[in-house]
Amino acid sequence: VGALFSANSYAADSAIDSILTSSELKVCFEAGYIPFEMKSKDGRFIGFDIDLAKHMARSMDVKFVPVNTAWDGIIPALQTGKCDIIIGGMAITPQRNLKVMFADTYIEIGQTVLIKPDLQGKVTSYRDLNDAKYTLSSQIGTTGAQAAKKYFPKATLNLFETSADAVLQVANGKADGFVYDLPYNALYASQHKDTVVHLDQSFTYEPLGWAIRQNDPNFLNFLNNYLVQIKKDGSYDRIYDKWFKS
Ligand code: ARG
Repeated sequence: VGALFSANSYAADSAIDSILTSSELKVCFEAGYIPFEMKSKDGRFIGFDIDLAKHMARSMDVKFVPVNTAWDGIIPALQTGKCDIIIGGMAITPQRNLKVMFADTYIEIGQTVLIKPDLQGKVTSYRDLNDAKYTLSSQIGTTGAQAAKKYFPKATLNLFETSADAVLQVANGKADGFVYDLPYNALYASQHKDTVVHLDQSFTYEPLGWAIRQNDPNFLNFLNNYLVQIKKDGSYDRIYDKWFKS
């Protein structure tokens, strides 16, 4: 009678179990977030997050399986098991943290603005953009959208499904500014010198973290120890330098 329940049957399921059983680490991200995740010309997923995810899968001795997902539905995708983890430049916010667990911060960023070149001189600080005469753009469901509402309540805000569509508004002259994460804006500005100007003073603090389903201390413990390891053994710096120092 005493052997009816083994000690193990009391433990909740961890994502680790299905990762090891399937030999696959399924990773959700939304390609189009430079230089974290994007699609190469020949259709492969590349970027800082992608390299980290591949390295993580290797450390578990399983296959990396990319799950490219619309940003809007990325937390539901995790919750319904379409992936084991979100490695997608996701900011650790209180609202998100009520739905998912986050591993420790793997990089810190902030919001900045890309403005129309003809606003140069008129708009010298992000603060100048809180004016009813300005139209801003950002991506739906992002901290950029959140920050735009908070810091520029007087401006008109137009939101788009993808960051590419949102930033194009500025290049096309339909918006005066695009509010988004600093690394994205810095890279975009360096590639589009004629169509946007980067106000590179960030006005928010955002820690980015890997998200997993709730009630999974085993996986969380694995991820936090893995992060310490790669930060100390040089792998993190090698991957970081590859994508952030060109
Ligand atoms: N860091 C921002 C956020 O958490 C934007 C991230 C967008 N990431 C992406 N893979 N498209 O909302």
